[in-house]
Amino acid sequence: MKIDGQPYRTIWLAEDGWSVEIIDQTKLPHRFEVESLCSLDDAAHAIRAMLVRGAPLIGATAAYGMALAMRDDSSDVGLEHAYDVLMATRPTAVNLRWALDDMRMRLQDQPRDVRVERAYARAAEVCDEDVAICSAIGDHGLALIRAAYEASPGDAPVNILTHCNAGWLATVDWGTALAPIYKAHDLGIPVHVWADETRPRNQGAALTAWELGRHGVSHAVVADNAGGHMMQHGLVDLCITGTDRTAASGDVANKIGTYLKALAAHDNGVPFYVALPSPTIDWTLTDGVRDIPIEQRDQEEVTHISGKSASGDIVSVQLTPDGTPAANPAFDVTPARLVTGLITERGVCPASAMGLAELFPELAEAS
Ligand code: MRU
Repeated sequence: MKIDGQPYRTIWLAEDGWSVEIIDQTKLPHRFEVESLCSLDDAAHAIRAMLVRGAPLIGATAAYGMALAMRDDSSDVGLEHAYDVLMATRPTAVNLRWALDDMRMRLQDQPRDVRVERAYARAAEVCDEDVAICSAIGDHGLALIRAAYEASPGDAPVNILTHCNAGWLATVDWGTALAPIYKAHDLGIPVHVWADETRPRNQGAALTAWELGRHGVSHAVVADNAGGHMMQHGLVDLCITGTDRTAASGDVANKIGTYLKALAAHDNGVPFYVALPSPTIDWTLTDGVRDIPIEQRDQEEVTHISGKSASGDIVSVQLTPDGTPAANPAFDVTPARLVTGLITERGVCPASAMGLAELFPELAEAS
C-alpha cells in the first residue's frame, strides 16, 4: 500500500542485501519510523515487543529471522537455536510455527554453505506468497461487500465493523480483513469502517485508523463497548475481522473482544466474517476454545495508556489506582457457530471442519 504516494510493504530486504527493514508499529500513528533488523535477536525482539505484529507479519519476520540467524551460525545447532528462540516470542499466532517449520524443513537437508542463500530466498518467497494470498482474500471478500451494497437502498455506504488491526500492517501487504475493504473502495463501492479501538493496546485506534486514513477510506474509531448498540440500531451491515489461529473445526482466535462482537452480531442478525490466509489454520486442533494457547501479557498494558500530549510528546499515563492488579489475556476464541463464513485465498467457506477441508483438501488430509 502507499504512504504519501510511496509504495511500502511492512517488511523488506535493505539495500545492503542482507539486513531487514520493518516499520516500527509501536511508534504509529504519531511517528513513522523504519527499524533495521541485523540479527536473530533483533528479529526476536521485534516480534516480542510488537514492533511487528499481526499473524502473517509475525510469520514473515520469523522467516527473515531464520535467514539472519544463518549468517551467524548455519550449523544444525544454529538452526535449532534460531527455531527455538523465534518460536518462544509469541504463543497465539500459528503463522509463527508455520513459517519456522517451513524454513527448518527446507534448510535442514541442505549443506551448511548454501543455507544462508536458501533462507533468504525462502523468506522472500514467504513474503511474496503472503501478498498474493491477501490480495486473493480481498477479491473473495469484495464479492460479499458488493452483494451488501447491491442489496442496500440507494447509494448508501456499506458499514463494516472490524476489530484490532487486520490490515496491511498486520501482513506483508493488503491485509486480511481490510483487503476486501481496500478493493471495494478502489472500485468506487462506498464503504464506511467502524474501527474498534481494541483496548488494551489500541491497534484499532492507532493502526487501523492510520492505514484507512492514509488510503482515504471513510472510517470512525468506536469504543470497544459500542459495537452491540450500533448493531441493534442498524449501523453495521457486516463485521469482518482477522484471526491469529483458526482450528480445523473453524473456531477462530483473534484479539481479545472479538468474541463479544460475534455474540452481538449473532443476536442482531449481522453477518460475521473472518478473513484468513491458509497458514493461519492449525490443522492439529479440533477445539479452538479448549486448545488454542492464549497469550497473557503485561498488566501495564491495562493499567496504563499512551498517546500524544498537547505539546506533541508521546506520553504514558496511569489509569488505575496505585498498585491495582490487572489481568491481560490478549486473545479470545470465537466458536465456529458464531461465524457466518471464513474468507480465504481460495474462496469463502462455512466455519466448519467440512468447509475448511473442502477448500484445502490436501492440507486437511496431511494433518
Ligand atoms: O497482538 P496482535 O496485534 O499481533 O494481534 C493481531 C490481531 O489480533 C489481528 O486481528 C490478527 O493477527 C489477524 S491479522 C491479519
